[in-house]
Amino acid sequence: MAKVLVYGSGGRDHCLAEKYADSQHVDKVYFTPGNPGVLYTPKGKRGLIERVRLPDGADFSAVADFCAENGVDLVDIGSENPLSRGLVDVLNSRGIATVGPRQEFARIESDRAFTDFLLQAAGVPKPEYQVFYDPEEARRYVRTIGYQVVVKANGLAAGKGALVCRDEQEALAAVDTLMVEKRFGEAGSRVVIEERKYGSEISFFVYLDGRQTLPLRMFCQDYKPAFDPDDRESIEKFGGNLNTGGTGCYCPHRLVSDHLVNRIIREIVNPFVDVVYNHLGWNYKGVLYFGLNLDPDGELSVFEINVRHGDPEFEVLSRKLSTDFFELGMAVWEGTLDQVKQIWNHRHYVDVIAMEGRSKASRGWNPGYPKRYGKGHRITGLDDLDRGLAVYFAGVDEDPQKGLVTYGGRVLHLVAGGDTLEEARRLAYANIEKLAFVDHKQDGANCMRYRKTIAV
Ligand code: GLY
Repeated sequence: MAKVLVYGSGGRDHCLAEKYADSQHVDKVYFTPGNPGVLYTPKGKRGLIERVRLPDGADFSAVADFCAENGVDLVDIGSENPLSRGLVDVLNSRGIATVGPRQEFARIESDRAFTDFLLQAAGVPKPEYQVFYDPEEARRYVRTIGYQVVVKANGLAAGKGALVCRDEQEALAAVDTLMVEKRFGEAGSRVVIEERKYGSEISFFVYLDGRQTLPLRMFCQDYKPAFDPDDRESIEKFGGNLNTGGTGCYCPHRLVSDHLVNRIIREIVNPFVDVVYNHLGWNYKGVLYFGLNLDPDGELSVFEINVRHGDPEFEVLSRKLSTDFFELGMAVWEGTLDQVKQIWNHRHYVDVIAMEGRSKASRGWNPGYPKRYGKGHRITGLDDLDRGLAVYFAGVDEDPQKGLVTYGGRVLHLVAGGDTLEEARRLAYANIEKLAFVDHKQDGANCMRYRKTIAV
């Protein structure tokens, strides 16, 4: 039997750990740095998934040592940050098998301007864009163009660095937020200003094994804005419907069809992967995530490419995929993706994310995610959830007195499945209402918040 290590700590990474634990070939999944939520789920309680705390050395030698000492057969890296810091390079140099691109190849996500250039070279449709290093030039540009834009930090910003603007004022404010205030640090030193597209958002995933490509014949829809569109009060209070890393997701997307999957593969995936494999000469092994827009005229375009699974996309997509995940991961590493069969079950899945809402602060109030949010609120109701639902933990911590408490803005994912989308949605919402984040500074009021219109 095999041992897998999942490197990450968020909801997607918890879900990855569960997916490997489901494999018939795996008897142990180590999860590092992990989060304590995993011990509140059945596979954690049974010891199939074990959280491991390792010294956080910049050179990742502690991770490589752990793998060598514990006979880890495969390491899957969930998020872009360790990929961009070279975790795969370190592990591979010690002969350890991995799923995820090397540092040089992770540039596809960490350098949006570079990827936009690749897309152009590949002839892949993408919105009009310009790159800026100087805030004054960026301001001049947004004053002269006649359309709405998205202003994007050029470096890593945990999926939150794209500011969607409704008018010139918002675009000018976005330039200041990224380039002057540096909300995402040095990622804002260079920005990409891109035409804002309208239509349907599609998250599409492709596995690469260094020479072959396995595009998934299934895709999902992410909901990035923090609030429901009709929640005018919150949108007003927060100064716009701020983009998050995702507040919920469903799968299959209403638009899934063989015809559209084939178009995405032909128009987007194949030309881009051809540039990666044949023009750059990169033996990329891992996943590519294509963030796409389908406009009302039926035109596809790419608004982002990432080097890891989407979060929360993976939490629904992986529930629908019945292919053994260890076999898939090993095929990515060994270059045998042509032998992997995609097996999709017939169910629908909805992920609603429970977030930190308004809570009492020591002085005044925390407005809640995606602005300043409180921490340490006891999470209740987990034992009351219906059987068959999945909970993937993200921003949580453990308190000796209170047990599992909130720690981040996006706290947990509640994923429900059903024979129809309506059933999955109904179950997700019926169950999330059983949960609460207890605001101890406000007589135990519930400070949990979630969007009401996921998959509507
Ligand atoms: N769901 C958006 C992301 O993973 O970046």
